[in-house]
Amino acid sequence: MKPDRRGLTILSIATVVATWLLLVIGGLVNPTGSSMACPDWYFIPTCNGQVIPADWSGGILYEHGHRMWASGVGLLTLVLGVWMWRRRDLGDTTRRLGLGAIALVALQGTLGGITVKLNLSWVVSTMHLVTAMIFFSVLIIITGRVLAAPAPPSARAVGPRALVVSAALLVAFQIALGGIVRHLGAGLVCGDDWLGCGPGTFWPAGGAGQIHMFHRVVGYSVALILLVVAGRAARALQQDGRPSWPARIPAILVLVQVTLGLLTVASGRSLWIVTFHTAVAGLVLASLVALYLTLGPLGSPRRAREAGRAALQPTLAALHAEVSP
Ligand code: HEM
Repeated sequence: MKPDRRGLTILSIATVVATWLLLVIGGLVNPTGSSMACPDWYFIPTCNGQVIPADWSGGILYEHGHRMWASGVGLLTLVLGVWMWRRRDLGDTTRRLGLGAIALVALQGTLGGITVKLNLSWVVSTMHLVTAMIFFSVLIIITGRVLAAPAPPSARAVGPRALVVSAALLVAFQIALGGIVRHLGAGLVCGDDWLGCGPGTFWPAGGAGQIHMFHRVVGYSVALILLVVAGRAARALQQDGRPSWPARIPAILVLVQVTLGLLTVASGRSLWIVTFHTAVAGLVLASLVALYLTLGPLGSPRRAREAGRAALQPTLAALHAEVSP
């Protein structure tokens, strides 16, 4: 870490941690049946007209606690984004990412408000979940770029990097599917049958059951794909003489995530299991974003290849000088 970036680094890491805790707190709202405990929303965190409610029962603890924690994350993001904007040494892309984070956190708060105003529309609730995950990923990118300026990737890392991007997009799709399962109330349409969807049935006839089973099948496929992608990324890092552990983290997390999914069904949506199923989904996505940053900077594969070639140029020139008579 550059010494003059210590404060900014600490703030960006604190915002990442606070946002992950927000995923945990937000994940508790729906399974505790607290989503409509505070039906008012006027851009400031109030619950039934009060900023600090006198009574925290009836789900208010979860719903209003979520709003207050989210307001704290909003403030942290605002300070982070403004601070980054004032630091020209970060480069234009990183500085714009800071502004992007402010825009995303504002959008996220608005979506949360619309969710309540539209009485928990499943479309808006799912958008609220997906925006939360995108915001979390942007904070990971910001932290990575504040910690170290992007360095040219090796030519070997270009292929695995493209695979990591595809895997991250697939995980984002699976997160959206999970949100649809939850907000259509399809979490237990197959009962507690974690192998199939009720006695002797794998593919149910009803739409809700089919979406539920589709989420499971995509989940198993995502796990297999991530194991392969992590293997490719680990090999590229090893061949470059770098530690391969950043590639192992998404592989481990996705196995934990599938286990939590199975336990969600088997336990009949136990509160903490289903909450961690949401929060670990964020970690799977974040670990892929971090792996992407580890493999090389942001930019097109073509530019990465060119940068790789440029980095090799002095070595090639030296070799050429040595072998030529
Ligand atoms: C890569 C793998 C997976 C990811 C990223 C993922 C992600 C998610 C997410 C983000 C949610 C929505 C939670 C919310 O709205 O807060 C969800 C819901 C759900 N997931 Fe997964 N999931 C995965 C695999 C699985 C698997 C393998 C199963 C079961 C075998 C499963 C079962 C469920 C169930 C039952 C719900 C609905 C929970 C509820 O009703 O609240 N998931 N998933």
